[in-house]
Amino acid sequence: MFDQSSVIVGLEVGTSKVCAVVGEVNDDGALSIIGVGQARSRGVRKGEMVDSALAAEDVRNAVVEAEQMADVEVRSVYLGVTGGHLRGFNNRGVHPVVISEEDVQDVIKNAKAINLPAENHVVHVIRQHFRVDGQDGIQNPVGMLGAKVEVDVHVIHGNFNRLQNPIRAVKSLQLEVEDIVFNGLASSLALLSNEQKELGALVIDMGGGTTEYVVCADGIVKHTGLLAVGGDHVSNDLAYGLKIPLSRAEQLKTEHGSAFVDDSVKGRSVTLAHGSGLAERSINLEHLRRILSLRVEEIFELIAREIGRTGLLDYLRGGVFLCGGGARIPEIQKLAGKVFGLPVSTGKTNSISGLKSALDQPEFATAIGLVKFGSFQKRKRAGRGGLGGIRSKVSRLFRAVKN
Ligand SMILES: Nc1ncnc2c1ncn2[C@@H]1O[C@H](COP(=O)(O)OP(=O)(O)OP(=O)(O)O)[C@@H](O)[C@H]1O
Ligand SMILES: [Mg+2]
Repeated sequence: MFDQSSVIVGLEVGTSKVCAVVGEVNDDGALSIIGVGQARSRGVRKGEMVDSALAAEDVRNAVVEAEQMADVEVRSVYLGVTGGHLRGFNNRGVHPVVISEEDVQDVIKNAKAINLPAENHVVHVIRQHFRVDGQDGIQNPVGMLGAKVEVDVHVIHGNFNRLQNPIRAVKSLQLEVEDIVFNGLASSLALLSNEQKELGALVIDMGGGTTEYVVCADGIVKHTGLLAVGGDHVSNDLAYGLKIPLSRAEQLKTEHGSAFVDDSVKGRSVTLAHGSGLAERSINLEHLRRILSLRVEEIFELIAREIGRTGLLDYLRGGVFLCGGGARIPEIQKLAGKVFGLPVSTGKTNSISGLKSALDQPEFATAIGLVKFGSFQKRKRAGRGGLGGIRSKVSRLFRAVKN
């Protein structure tokens, strides 16, 4: 019989699509993708739920499709979260005496004790490194002598109620939420190898309504961020700029878009066939591409400015990795290369096997990363003898959902 406990499901309720990815951990601990389900998303704007009934229906459709492909029953998911309310920052915890396992747990607890307004919820506290009596870069201080241990963590938090909305929608389908994970973090898990994380890399996930980014360097998460802007805004710009309906703008973008405008398009035009009550029209290709590239360039520049402000641009020796549907825009690598001054590639899923058709799609990076996150959690849980407080992070949210 199929061992249900080896199944891990990642679910992204995105602005453009809902995507469920089913992974299986084999006896050797290797992760393989065995099913994918997708549905057009109708209840989400800028990464956040605006119609939970529609969103639940779309989640059901995606999950059923993934179940059929994988031939398993999905009972629980790792759920990706995003939205303009999420914030990331670095924090430090201090503990005066050293250094047993309990001291280490205490210092991490101190780092988690952040003064946030009551309506906020901490989604992640990611351990970066320890410092013992001022000595930097210590990975495990247990057993060391010293008078003071400090830990640096990266904290991601968001609005409590807004985080509950996708959880509610999933739970309304009798599915458990194992954990919630920031979408950008999930995508970086899917794309980056340990070596790239060491070297320093920037992952940018450009979706329909949001663009998440994550900087890893020295093997740790250094910075995360999010812009509530994505491919939908590019389509909007085209609709306004070219005076055409949004649906036609979306079609023009995917069929004729490019992030780079060169001399070869000067004077060229494409024909927009008649339909939806519109007469046939000629669209200036240079104009189209200029509108698209200006918006995408602006998104990259905002990210570059933010990362520049944190001083991390010089750390990105591994380069920039793009994912999300936006990574499909022709020549987007070239544009990103110009803005960041770094090598850029479209990220490919790292160290996971299985359905090639899923692993190569840039828009599946988040859901695949969620499966990878789930496999790490399961491994950790197994290491702790099975139980442990794995759901403690979301327990407050779950309690609120139940009430
Ligand atoms: N070939 C293409 N050229 C240009 N844009 C594209 C192409 N293919 C997909 N896109 C755009 O990618 C976006 C969808 O990406 P994705 O599926 O990653 O979004 P999402 O995960 O649903 O949204 P979000 O993460 O923002 O909530 C849409 O704006 C779509 O127009
Ligand atoms: Mg997305």
